[in-house]
Amino acid sequence: METLQKSIEECNSVKELERLRVEVFGKKGYFSKEFAKLKELEGGEKISYAAKLNEEKEKFGELVNAKKTFLEAKEYEDILKRDALDVSLYSKGANIGALHPVMDTMDKITEYFASLNFSVEDGPLVEDDFHNFEALNLPKFHPARDMQDTFYFKDGALLRTHTSPVQIRTMLSQQPPVRMICPGAVFRPDLDLTHTPMFHQIEGLVVDKKGAVSFANLKSILEEFLKYMFGDVKVRFRPSFFPFTEPSAEVDISCIFCHGSGCRVCKNTGWLEVLGCGTVDQNVFNAVGYKNCSGYAFGMGMERSAMLLHRIPDLRALFEGDLRLLEQFK
Ligand code: DAH
Repeated sequence: METLQKSIEECNSVKELERLRVEVFGKKGYFSKEFAKLKELEGGEKISYAAKLNEEKEKFGELVNAKKTFLEAKEYEDILKRDALDVSLYSKGANIGALHPVMDTMDKITEYFASLNFSVEDGPLVEDDFHNFEALNLPKFHPARDMQDTFYFKDGALLRTHTSPVQIRTMLSQQPPVRMICPGAVFRPDLDLTHTPMFHQIEGLVVDKKGAVSFANLKSILEEFLKYMFGDVKVRFRPSFFPFTEPSAEVDISCIFCHGSGCRVCKNTGWLEVLGCGTVDQNVFNAVGYKNCSGYAFGMGMERSAMLLHRIPDLRALFEGDLRLLEQFK
Protein backbone atom coordinates (compact mmCIF):
# COMPACT_ATOMS: atom_id res chain seq x y z
CA MET A 1 0.00 0.00 0.00
CA GLU A 2 2.83 2.40 0.74
CA THR A 3 4.28 1.87 -2.73
CA LEU A 4 0.88 2.56 -4.25
CA GLN A 5 0.56 5.74 -2.26
CA LYS A 6 4.03 6.80 -3.42
CA SER A 7 3.17 6.07 -7.06
CA ILE A 8 0.13 8.31 -6.79
CA GLU A 9 2.19 11.11 -5.35
CA GLU A 10 4.66 10.82 -8.19
CA CYS A 11 2.03 11.19 -10.90
CA ASN A 12 2.46 14.49 -12.74
CA SER A 13 -0.48 14.43 -15.10
CA VAL A 14 -4.08 13.25 -15.29
CA LYS A 15 -2.96 10.86 -18.03
CA GLU A 16 -0.27 9.24 -15.88
CA LEU A 17 -2.72 8.94 -13.00
CA GLU A 18 -5.26 7.25 -15.23
CA ARG A 19 -2.62 4.71 -16.36
CA LEU A 20 -1.86 3.96 -12.72
CA ARG A 21 -5.55 3.60 -11.86
CA VAL A 22 -5.97 1.00 -14.64
CA GLU A 23 -2.84 -0.83 -13.47
CA VAL A 24 -4.24 -1.06 -9.96
CA PHE A 25 -7.98 -1.53 -10.52
CA GLY A 26 -7.94 -3.21 -13.96
CA LYS A 27 -8.68 -6.87 -14.67
CA LYS A 28 -5.03 -7.78 -14.53
CA GLY A 29 -4.27 -5.17 -11.90
CA TYR A 30 -3.12 -5.31 -8.29
CA PHE A 31 -6.52 -5.70 -6.66
CA SER A 32 -7.69 -8.45 -9.06
CA LYS A 33 -4.58 -10.44 -8.20
CA GLU A 34 -4.92 -9.87 -4.48
CA PHE A 35 -8.64 -10.72 -4.44
CA ALA A 36 -7.81 -13.94 -6.36
CA LYS A 37 -5.60 -14.99 -3.47
CA LEU A 38 -8.71 -15.17 -1.22
CA LYS A 39 -9.61 -18.52 -2.83
CA GLU A 40 -6.61 -20.09 -1.13
CA LEU A 41 -7.44 -18.70 2.29
CA GLU A 42 -9.82 -20.12 4.86
CA GLY A 43 -12.09 -18.91 7.64
CA GLY A 44 -10.94 -15.97 9.80
CA GLU A 45 -7.85 -15.33 7.67
CA LYS A 46 -9.97 -15.04 4.55
CA ILE A 47 -12.39 -12.62 6.21
CA SER A 48 -9.72 -10.37 7.67
CA TYR A 49 -7.71 -10.31 4.43
CA ALA A 50 -10.82 -9.47 2.43
CA ALA A 51 -11.65 -6.68 4.86
CA LYS A 52 -8.09 -5.34 4.59
CA LEU A 53 -8.26 -5.41 0.76
CA ASN A 54 -11.63 -3.61 0.71
CA GLU A 55 -10.30 -0.96 3.01
CA GLU A 56 -7.20 -0.52 0.88
CA LYS A 57 -9.29 -0.37 -2.25
CA GLU A 58 -11.49 2.35 -0.82
CA LYS A 59 -8.56 4.35 0.46
CA PHE A 60 -6.74 4.05 -2.82
CA GLY A 61 -9.82 5.17 -4.71
CA GLU A 62 -10.08 8.24 -2.51
CA LEU A 63 -6.41 9.07 -2.98
CA VAL A 64 -6.67 8.75 -6.76
CA ASN A 65 -9.75 10.99 -6.86
CA ALA A 66 -8.13 13.65 -4.70
CA LYS A 67 -4.98 13.60 -6.83
CA LYS A 68 -7.12 13.77 -9.98
CA THR A 69 -8.93 16.89 -8.78
CA PHE A 70 -5.60 18.44 -7.90
CA LEU A 71 -3.97 17.58 -11.26
CA GLU A 72 -6.98 18.76 -13.27
CA ALA A 73 -6.94 22.11 -11.52
CA LYS A 74 -3.21 22.39 -12.09
CA GLU A 75 -3.48 21.56 -15.77
CA TYR A 76 -6.26 24.12 -16.18
CA GLU A 77 -4.12 26.70 -14.42
CA ASP A 78 -1.23 25.90 -16.79
CA ILE A 79 -3.45 26.39 -19.86
CA LEU A 80 -4.65 29.73 -18.49
CA LYS A 81 -1.08 30.82 -17.88
CA ARG A 82 0.13 29.65 -21.26
CA ASP A 83 -2.72 31.24 -23.24
CA ALA A 84 -2.99 34.41 -21.22
CA LEU A 85 -3.47 37.68 -23.16
CA ASP A 86 -1.67 40.79 -22.13
CA VAL A 87 -4.52 43.24 -22.48
CA SER A 88 -2.21 46.14 -21.78
CA LEU A 89 -0.29 45.53 -25.02
CA TYR A 90 -0.91 48.00 -27.85
CA SER A 91 -2.62 46.57 -30.93
CA LYS A 92 -2.44 47.81 -34.51
CA GLY A 93 -6.10 48.79 -34.23
CA ALA A 94 -8.98 48.37 -36.65
CA ASN A 95 -8.60 49.63 -40.20
CA ILE A 96 -10.89 52.65 -40.14
CA GLY A 97 -12.02 54.10 -43.47
CA ALA A 98 -12.51 57.66 -44.57
CA LEU A 99 -15.12 59.63 -46.50
CA HIS A 100 -14.71 59.20 -50.25
CA PRO A 101 -13.16 62.41 -51.65
CA VAL A 102 -16.21 63.04 -53.83
CA MET A 103 -18.62 62.68 -50.89
CA ASP A 104 -16.32 64.85 -48.81
CA THR A 105 -16.39 67.59 -51.47
CA MET A 106 -20.16 67.25 -51.80
CA ASP A 107 -20.62 67.57 -48.02
CA LYS A 108 -18.41 70.63 -47.93
CA ILE A 109 -20.45 72.35 -50.66
CA THR A 110 -23.79 71.27 -49.18
CA GLU A 111 -22.81 72.63 -45.77
CA TYR A 112 -21.81 75.94 -47.33
CA PHE A 113 -25.13 76.51 -49.06
CA ALA A 114 -27.16 75.10 -46.14
CA SER A 115 -25.50 77.74 -43.95
CA LEU A 116 -26.84 80.37 -46.42
CA ASN A 117 -30.36 79.02 -45.86
CA PHE A 118 -30.62 76.97 -49.08
CA SER A 119 -32.87 73.92 -48.64
CA VAL A 120 -31.35 70.60 -49.71
CA GLU A 121 -33.62 68.84 -52.21
CA ASP A 122 -33.57 65.38 -53.73
CA GLY A 123 -34.94 63.78 -56.89
CA PRO A 124 -35.05 60.40 -58.65
CA LEU A 125 -32.07 59.05 -60.63
CA VAL A 126 -34.44 57.52 -63.19
CA GLU A 127 -36.14 60.52 -64.76
CA ASP A 128 -38.58 61.19 -67.55
CA ASP A 129 -38.13 63.33 -70.62
CA PHE A 130 -40.28 66.14 -69.22
CA HIS A 131 -38.24 66.82 -66.06
CA ASN A 132 -34.79 66.13 -67.50
CA PHE A 133 -35.26 68.01 -70.81
CA GLU A 134 -38.58 69.43 -71.89
CA ALA A 135 -39.40 71.57 -68.86
CA LEU A 136 -35.81 72.83 -68.93
CA ASN A 137 -36.44 74.37 -72.34
CA LEU A 138 -34.89 71.45 -74.23
CA PRO A 139 -37.68 70.46 -76.63
CA LYS A 140 -37.60 67.10 -78.43
CA PHE A 141 -35.22 67.10 -81.43
CA HIS A 142 -33.64 70.37 -80.29
CA PRO A 143 -29.91 70.32 -81.13
CA ALA A 144 -29.02 71.46 -77.58
CA ARG A 145 -29.91 67.95 -76.42
CA ASP A 146 -26.63 66.84 -78.01
CA MET A 147 -24.84 68.64 -75.16
CA GLN A 148 -25.77 65.72 -72.92
CA ASP A 149 -25.46 62.14 -74.19
CA THR A 150 -28.10 60.06 -72.47
CA PHE A 151 -28.74 56.54 -71.18
CA TYR A 152 -32.30 55.66 -72.24
CA PHE A 153 -34.52 52.79 -71.07
CA LYS A 154 -36.71 50.96 -73.60
CA ASP A 155 -39.85 52.65 -72.26
CA GLY A 156 -38.42 56.14 -72.83
CA ALA A 157 -37.40 56.72 -69.20
CA LEU A 158 -33.79 57.80 -68.77
CA LEU A 159 -31.00 58.17 -66.23
CA ARG A 160 -30.88 61.86 -65.36
CA THR A 161 -28.03 63.58 -67.20
CA HIS A 162 -27.84 66.45 -64.70
CA THR A 163 -29.32 67.55 -61.37
CA SER A 164 -31.32 70.29 -63.12
CA PRO A 165 -34.58 68.21 -63.18
CA VAL A 166 -34.68 68.72 -59.41
CA GLN A 167 -35.20 72.45 -60.09
CA ILE A 168 -38.35 71.50 -61.97
CA ARG A 169 -39.58 69.07 -59.30
CA THR A 170 -38.98 71.63 -56.57
CA MET A 171 -40.79 74.43 -58.41
CA LEU A 172 -43.71 72.13 -59.21
CA SER A 173 -44.11 71.25 -55.53
CA GLN A 174 -43.36 74.63 -53.91
CA GLN A 175 -44.43 78.21 -54.42
CA PRO A 176 -41.81 80.98 -54.70
CA PRO A 177 -39.61 82.11 -53.08
CA VAL A 178 -37.31 79.10 -53.65
CA ARG A 179 -33.76 78.78 -52.46
CA MET A 180 -32.49 75.26 -53.01
CA ILE A 181 -29.54 73.10 -53.84
CA CYS A 182 -29.52 69.48 -54.96
CA PRO A 183 -26.42 67.32 -54.67
CA GLY A 184 -26.55 63.92 -56.39
CA ALA A 185 -25.42 61.37 -58.94
CA VAL A 186 -25.95 61.90 -62.69
CA PHE A 187 -25.21 59.70 -65.71
CA ARG A 188 -23.81 60.10 -69.22
CA PRO A 189 -22.26 57.50 -71.53
CA ASP A 190 -18.68 58.85 -71.42
CA LEU A 191 -15.46 57.21 -70.22
CA ASP A 192 -11.98 58.73 -70.41
CA LEU A 193 -9.40 60.51 -68.22
CA THR A 194 -11.86 63.21 -67.20
CA HIS A 195 -15.24 61.46 -67.60
CA THR A 196 -16.98 58.52 -65.91
CA PRO A 197 -20.50 57.27 -66.81
CA MET A 198 -21.68 58.15 -63.30
CA PHE A 199 -20.59 61.36 -61.64
CA HIS A 200 -21.99 63.92 -59.21
CA GLN A 201 -23.29 67.45 -59.50
CA ILE A 202 -24.68 70.14 -57.29
CA GLU A 203 -27.50 72.20 -58.66
CA GLY A 204 -28.55 75.53 -57.17
CA LEU A 205 -31.70 77.57 -57.75
CA VAL A 206 -32.96 80.83 -56.31
CA VAL A 207 -36.34 82.25 -57.32
CA ASP A 208 -38.24 85.27 -56.04
CA LYS A 209 -40.60 87.99 -57.28
CA LYS A 210 -39.78 89.63 -60.60
CA GLY A 211 -36.84 92.00 -60.23
CA ALA A 212 -35.86 90.61 -56.82
CA VAL A 213 -33.13 88.27 -58.09
CA SER A 214 -30.49 89.42 -60.55
CA PHE A 215 -27.39 88.25 -62.35
CA ALA A 216 -25.41 90.49 -59.95
CA ASN A 217 -26.70 88.39 -57.00
CA LEU A 218 -25.64 85.24 -58.81
CA LYS A 219 -22.17 86.64 -59.44
CA SER A 220 -21.56 87.66 -55.89
CA ILE A 221 -22.81 84.41 -54.33
CA LEU A 222 -20.70 82.28 -56.69
CA GLU A 223 -17.59 84.42 -56.24
CA GLU A 224 -17.81 84.03 -52.48
CA PHE A 225 -18.49 80.31 -52.80
CA LEU A 226 -15.53 79.66 -55.13
CA LYS A 227 -13.19 81.49 -52.76
CA TYR A 228 -14.46 79.30 -49.92
CA MET A 229 -13.82 76.19 -52.04
CA PHE A 230 -10.53 77.01 -53.72
CA GLY A 231 -8.95 79.71 -51.60
CA ASP A 232 -7.66 83.00 -52.95
CA VAL A 233 -8.54 82.60 -56.64
CA LYS A 234 -9.64 85.03 -59.33
CA VAL A 235 -13.12 84.34 -60.72
CA ARG A 236 -14.29 85.16 -64.23
CA PHE A 237 -17.67 84.78 -65.93
CA ARG A 238 -17.64 83.86 -69.61
CA PRO A 239 -20.77 84.22 -71.77
CA SER A 240 -22.10 80.78 -72.69
CA PHE A 241 -25.28 78.95 -73.55
CA PHE A 242 -27.60 76.72 -71.55
CA PRO A 243 -31.20 76.24 -72.66
CA PHE A 244 -32.56 76.75 -69.13
CA THR A 245 -30.85 80.08 -68.42
CA GLU A 246 -30.76 83.37 -70.30
CA PRO A 247 -28.26 84.92 -70.19
CA SER A 248 -25.92 82.02 -69.34
CA ALA A 249 -22.31 81.93 -68.27
CA GLU A 250 -19.54 79.52 -67.58
CA VAL A 251 -17.40 80.34 -64.59
CA ASP A 252 -13.62 79.94 -64.46
CA ILE A 253 -11.22 80.26 -61.56
CA SER A 254 -7.56 81.20 -61.96
CA CYS A 255 -5.56 77.96 -62.12
CA ILE A 256 -4.86 76.74 -58.58
CA PHE A 257 -1.70 75.00 -59.77
CA CYS A 258 0.13 77.71 -61.73
CA HIS A 259 -1.82 80.75 -60.43
CA GLY A 260 -2.48 81.91 -63.96
CA SER A 261 0.93 81.62 -65.58
CA GLY A 262 -0.10 78.53 -67.60
CA CYS A 263 0.44 74.81 -66.99
CA ARG A 264 -0.68 71.39 -68.20
CA VAL A 265 -3.79 71.24 -66.00
CA CYS A 266 -5.18 74.55 -67.31
CA LYS A 267 -3.90 73.78 -70.82
CA ASN A 268 -1.77 76.93 -70.64
CA THR A 269 -4.82 79.20 -70.37
CA GLY A 270 -4.28 80.10 -66.71
CA TRP A 271 -8.00 79.35 -66.07
CA LEU A 272 -10.01 76.32 -64.94
CA GLU A 273 -13.70 76.00 -65.81
CA VAL A 274 -15.69 74.98 -62.74
CA LEU A 275 -19.40 75.62 -63.25
CA GLY A 276 -22.29 76.72 -65.42
CA CYS A 277 -24.94 79.26 -64.44
CA GLY A 278 -27.35 81.96 -65.53
CA THR A 279 -30.63 83.68 -64.82
CA VAL A 280 -33.61 81.37 -65.23
CA ASP A 281 -35.12 81.31 -68.73
CA GLN A 282 -38.75 82.47 -68.88
CA ASN A 283 -39.68 79.22 -70.66
CA VAL A 284 -38.68 77.26 -67.54
CA PHE A 285 -40.99 79.39 -65.38
CA ASN A 286 -43.74 78.85 -67.95
CA ALA A 287 -43.26 75.05 -67.78
CA VAL A 288 -43.83 75.01 -64.02
CA GLY A 289 -46.53 77.71 -63.98
CA TYR A 290 -44.50 80.35 -62.09
CA LYS A 291 -45.69 83.89 -62.95
CA ASN A 292 -43.88 87.22 -62.45
CA CYS A 293 -40.72 85.64 -61.11
CA SER A 294 -37.00 86.09 -61.52
CA GLY A 295 -34.27 83.68 -60.56
CA TYR A 296 -30.83 82.31 -61.07
CA ALA A 297 -29.42 78.79 -61.27
CA PHE A 298 -26.07 77.11 -61.32
CA GLY A 299 -24.66 73.61 -61.74
CA MET A 300 -21.31 72.21 -60.81
CA GLY A 301 -19.49 68.87 -61.16
CA MET A 302 -18.20 67.35 -57.94
CA GLU A 303 -15.53 65.11 -59.40
CA ARG A 304 -13.86 67.97 -61.17
CA SER A 305 -13.61 69.92 -57.91
CA ALA A 306 -12.37 66.84 -56.01
CA MET A 307 -9.80 66.23 -58.75
CA LEU A 308 -8.56 69.79 -58.55
CA LEU A 309 -8.56 69.94 -54.75
CA HIS A 310 -6.73 66.62 -54.36
CA ARG A 311 -4.68 66.73 -57.60
CA ILE A 312 -6.05 63.44 -58.88
CA PRO A 313 -4.82 62.97 -62.47
CA ASP A 314 -7.31 60.29 -63.63
CA LEU A 315 -10.99 60.64 -62.74
CA ARG A 316 -11.63 56.92 -63.23
CA ALA A 317 -9.36 56.18 -60.25
CA LEU A 318 -12.04 57.66 -57.97
CA PHE A 319 -14.41 54.78 -58.71
CA GLU A 320 -12.09 51.79 -58.85
CA GLY A 321 -12.25 51.28 -55.07
CA ASP A 322 -8.46 50.87 -54.82
CA LEU A 323 -7.64 51.12 -51.11
CA ARG A 324 -4.20 52.56 -51.88
CA LEU A 325 -5.93 55.65 -53.26
CA LEU A 326 -8.71 55.80 -50.68
CA GLU A 327 -6.33 55.39 -47.72
CA GLN A 328 -4.76 58.71 -48.62
CA PHE A 329 -7.93 60.52 -47.58
CA LYS A 330 -7.95 59.41 -43.95
N1 DAH B 1 -27.10 71.21 -66.05
C1 DAH B 1 -25.86 71.73 -66.60
C2 DAH B 1 -24.95 70.58 -66.99
O1 DAH B 1 -25.12 69.49 -66.53
C3 DAH B 1 -25.17 72.57 -65.58
C4 DAH B 1 -25.89 73.84 -65.34
C5 DAH B 1 -25.62 74.94 -66.09
C6 DAH B 1 -26.90 73.91 -64.41
C7 DAH B 1 -26.28 76.13 -65.91
C8 DAH B 1 -27.60 75.08 -64.20
C9 DAH B 1 -27.27 76.20 -64.98
O2 DAH B 1 -28.56 75.22 -63.31
O3 DAH B 1 -27.96 77.37 -64.80
O4 DAH B 1 -24.04 70.79 -67.75
